[in-house]
Amino acid sequence: MATLLSALLASSALVSAQDFSGGARSEDAFSYVQPLDTVILDEYNSSPAVYPSPNATGAGGWEDALQRAKEFVAQLTVDEKSYMVSGQPGPCVGNIAPIPRLDFPGLCLHDGPLAIRVADYASVFSAGVSAGASWDKELMYERGYAMGEEFRAKGAHVALQPVAGPLGRSGYAGRNWEGSAADPYLAGVFMKETILGTQDAGVQACAKHYIGNEQETQRNPVFDPNGTTTDTISAAISSNIDDRTMHEIYLWPFADAAHAKVASFMCSYTRINGSYGCQNSKALNGLLKEELGFQGYVMSDWGATHAGVASIEAGQDMDMPGGLGAYGTAFAADIPGRMPSFFGGNITLAVNNGSLAESRVDDMIVRIMTPFYALGQDKDFPTVDPSSAELNTFSPISTWKIDWNLTGPSSRDVRGDHAKLIRKHGAAGTVLLKNVDGALPLKAPKNIAVFGNDAAEPTKGQLNQQNFEYGTLVAGGGSGTGQLTYVVTPLRAIQDRAKKDNAKIVQYWLNNTLIANTDIDTLLIPDRPEVCIVMLKTWAEEAADRASLHVDWNGDAVVESVASKCNNTIVVTHSSGINVLPWADHENVTAIVAAHFPGEESGNSLVDILYGDVNPSGHLPYTIALNGTDYNAPPTTAINTTGYYDWQSWFDEKLEIDYRYFDAHNISVRYEFGFGLSYTTFGYASLAAEPLSSNISALPTPQPVQPGGNPDLFAPVYNVSVAVSNTGKVAGHAVPQLYLGLPSSAPAGTPPKQLRGFEKVWLQPNETKTVSFQLMRRDVSYWDIVQQEWVIPSGEFSVMVGESSRIIKAQKGVNVLGSY
Ligand SMILES: *[C@@H]1O[C@H](CO)[C@@H](O)[C@H](O)[C@H]1NC(C)=O
Ligand SMILES: *[C@@H]1O[C@H](CO)[C@@H](O)[C@H](O)[C@H]1NC(C)=O
Ligand SMILES: *[C@@H]1O[C@H](CO)[C@@H](O)[C@H](O)[C@H]1NC(C)=O
Ligand SMILES: *[C@@H]1O[C@H](CO)[C@@H](O)[C@H](O)[C@H]1NC(C)=O
Ligand SMILES: *[C@@H]1O[C@H](CO)[C@@H](O)[C@H](O)[C@H]1NC(C)=O
Ligand SMILES: *[C@@H]1O[C@H](CO)[C@@H](O)[C@H](O)[C@H]1NC(C)=O
Ligand SMILES: *[C@@H]1O[C@H](CO)[C@@H](O)[C@H](O)[C@H]1NC(C)=O
Ligand SMILES: *[C@@H]1O[C@H](CO)[C@@H](O)[C@H](O)[C@H]1NC(C)=O
Ligand SMILES: *[C@@H]1O[C@H](CO)[C@@H](O)[C@H](O)[C@H]1NC(C)=O
Ligand SMILES: *[C@@H]1O[C@H](CO)[C@@H](O)[C@H](O)[C@H]1NC(C)=O
Ligand SMILES: *[C@@H]1O[C@H](CO)[C@@H](O)[C@H](O)[C@H]1NC(C)=O
Ligand SMILES: *[C@@H]1O[C@H](CO)[C@@H](O)[C@H](O)[C@H]1NC(C)=O
Repeated sequence: MATLLSALLASSALVSAQDFSGGARSEDAFSYVQPLDTVILDEYNSSPAVYPSPNATGAGGWEDALQRAKEFVAQLTVDEKSYMVSGQPGPCVGNIAPIPRLDFPGLCLHDGPLAIRVADYASVFSAGVSAGASWDKELMYERGYAMGEEFRAKGAHVALQPVAGPLGRSGYAGRNWEGSAADPYLAGVFMKETILGTQDAGVQACAKHYIGNEQETQRNPVFDPNGTTTDTISAAISSNIDDRTMHEIYLWPFADAAHAKVASFMCSYTRINGSYGCQNSKALNGLLKEELGFQGYVMSDWGATHAGVASIEAGQDMDMPGGLGAYGTAFAADIPGRMPSFFGGNITLAVNNGSLAESRVDDMIVRIMTPFYALGQDKDFPTVDPSSAELNTFSPISTWKIDWNLTGPSSRDVRGDHAKLIRKHGAAGTVLLKNVDGALPLKAPKNIAVFGNDAAEPTKGQLNQQNFEYGTLVAGGGSGTGQLTYVVTPLRAIQDRAKKDNAKIVQYWLNNTLIANTDIDTLLIPDRPEVCIVMLKTWAEEAADRASLHVDWNGDAVVESVASKCNNTIVVTHSSGINVLPWADHENVTAIVAAHFPGEESGNSLVDILYGDVNPSGHLPYTIALNGTDYNAPPTTAINTTGYYDWQSWFDEKLEIDYRYFDAHNISVRYEFGFGLSYTTFGYASLAAEPLSSNISALPTPQPVQPGGNPDLFAPVYNVSVAVSNTGKVAGHAVPQLYLGLPSSAPAGTPPKQLRGFEKVWLQPNETKTVSFQLMRRDVSYWDIVQQEWVIPSGEFSVMVGESSRIIKAQKGVNVLGSY
């Protein structure tokens, strides 16, 4: 049976999964079946079959850990093997059951990207978008490390972060804020630094959601309310991505994650070229395990498994949370002892009847246990905090089928002194967009007015963030949120600061409807405020895309109302990301501050910026267009047909996402990617570019694959340097950014410029520092779809250094090929 299966798989990309065990159905086949009622003639209509699934080798430094993992697997029964790869109800959001016989404590997997979510007495850090906006590698590492410390102290072996999918193809996507930037290079640095930080703290990271998970609408199939838990009415959206775009945009940050030796990947809900993310052999076996040499394991997103053997053969290694069907129905059925699952007991059956090779199951477990040993999780790892079990509504204790060893202190306070870091990180991710006539920093104003429902305490409970009307927003919703133990609101922090300055009054109005519809002169005390601070917010959450790019709660009208009467109106947004700012040119709006999702110290982070204790240094990790309709690539939110497979998202814009699109089509924007003001100014001089080896070849030298791919792709080939000076009056961080324009010999569709380096440097007034950027081979290459290789094009590259994607301060031409 196994041989027949392999022959089938090798022979065609059009095999059906029908014959496979474990619940696979024809509609979960490896290829997109053309629905009869639509005519789609397109280059992408199938996902190539790539089999068999590569075995882990431990390459890149995990060789010893792999050996220990193999010794562990050798002691397991087939039944134990089946449950090592299949989740069970338990104290954590994802659980691999303990095996007391072997002193294996089980694995505890917890959300998420800005906090350990299902936990008490844990910190809420700044969101990914804030970390991206900081353009600060050290901060990204430090944030990852601090989060890792909290996960570990709570007994979580795996932190379900960081996020590079969605990348930000569309500003409307509901989860962009969990990730960092609408640019693969910046997102790749964020992935690498967060993973290194998390794993240096002893916790496995999980690069997610792999791949093409660029919208929330129809991310899952629609389940038949009248059917069983696996009966569906329509398949999930399919992200149809061509090979070059895959490599140069969406795969790029995940390659950095593999290069950083991330322990795990999470395959996504959406289909890719018609085939579900967790059973797409091209994405899992081909791109991830072969090309990128990934040595860890692939877990499913929660409920993203739609088949047993078909998924396993395609490269999925762990089923989460276990069980069948849609998120939320995972624990509906009841089998004594264990949960029914596409994996679990079906693996035992499939191995025993010969339809699944036991060696593949062994490799799944080797991949799971190698990072466990590599990170030393077999030694002195804290037990799961018993409070986790009480807080876990996803698999309540009543659903557990096996005992968990919940010893050790309960409700551990794991926050340490992380609040100090969070305050710093929140300020670092805050972007100053407009500052007229030195409106900021504030100079100890004595009469301050604060407006907007984002200013003050949440009134419906602060512990979990929700899209409530009243209350400041420090994070988005869904599995990526955190449980606040406290929050410093902007109003509280402004009042505290005003008191220190002996201010006379801080007057405030929190009702947006009232402010928008009232002449504010009738609200304010007759003594005019010196400054009016308007606090706006924009919600976003998992499982829903944003309906609008405007600020929420009629915030635009709030600004108009305040600015019509107050000639020093400072607007602050707490937001998931892109907001169009139609009032940005208003003469009375003197400053605009994009504070993103800063975490629990929100008010302090903001006051540090407003009063100049921290010089703003954040830069946009996306583009703010003049108008929401200027953006391309909107999510697919509706289809006109009713065919089972008809939800399609064609990534026809190819490489042109965010600034790559606006630049290619010469479209004016409000604030471009990379933009951000400081309270000082910077000068750029002496741009130089030197090759680091002689005779640079167009193609990389073939070498055995290491995590991240061919190691030659990561070899430095060019050094670019520039002298940056602080030309203003106060100390501050410059963020020099390196953009590359490829020579005209590069294939059509190459964007005019692409980020390929950045640094963050602290400069005293009049101080000059030389900043170097090392360009790796991959940075100066494009993905050649015929050669299936990264290629350095011949001709002159344009090397551009500046302080945003459109403020280029120094530029020069360079021939990379055959330099010297
Ligand atoms: C083998 O077991 C699997 C899992 O239960 C089942 O789906 C499949 O039909 C079985 N195949 C054969 C040939 O019995
Ligand atoms: C095997 O998977 C099927 C779904 O295809 C499910 O109905 C069945 O309960 C599973 N069996 C076990 C033992 O988990
Ligand atoms: C998607 O389809 C394109 C066009 O056929 C192909 O080049 C690419 O390799 C496919 N990718 C995946 C992951 O299936
Ligand atoms: C994986 O290793 C097993 C031996 O443990 C071997 O039988 C199998 O062919 C290997 N698979 C691949 C894809 O190399
Ligand atoms: C489910 O059953 C109800 C009651 O028979 C029916 O009204 C409804 O249309 C059914 N829904 C679907 C999606 O078939
Ligand atoms: C439970 O965990 C504690 C702490 O690791 C350990 O000392 C104890 O032996 C474990 N108990 C069982 C039954 O496994
Ligand atoms: C907010 O103001 C509007 C308009 O004045 C009013 O109708 C509404 O009741 C107010 N909301 C609260 C919570 O006071
Ligand atoms: C700006 O504010 C002043 C009050 O200081 C007001 O008279 C003026 O109309 C405002 N400008 C606009 C465009 O609303
Ligand atoms: C702004 O308004 C204040 C009073 O509200 C006034 O004293 C000041 O001159 C105005 N500034 C400008 C530039 O109009
Ligand atoms: C944005 O574009 C739409 C459609 O072109 C247009 O109706 C609207 O007026 C524009 N808004 C602004 C503020 O320019
Ligand atoms: C549905 O059809 C209408 C009328 O042909 C068209 O205007 C609209 O764009 C279509 N919508 C989608 C999502 O295809
Ligand atoms: C910076 O240099 C200028 C020109 O040499 C000088 O006037 C100024 O005092 C210097 N500023 C500081 C802070 O040293």
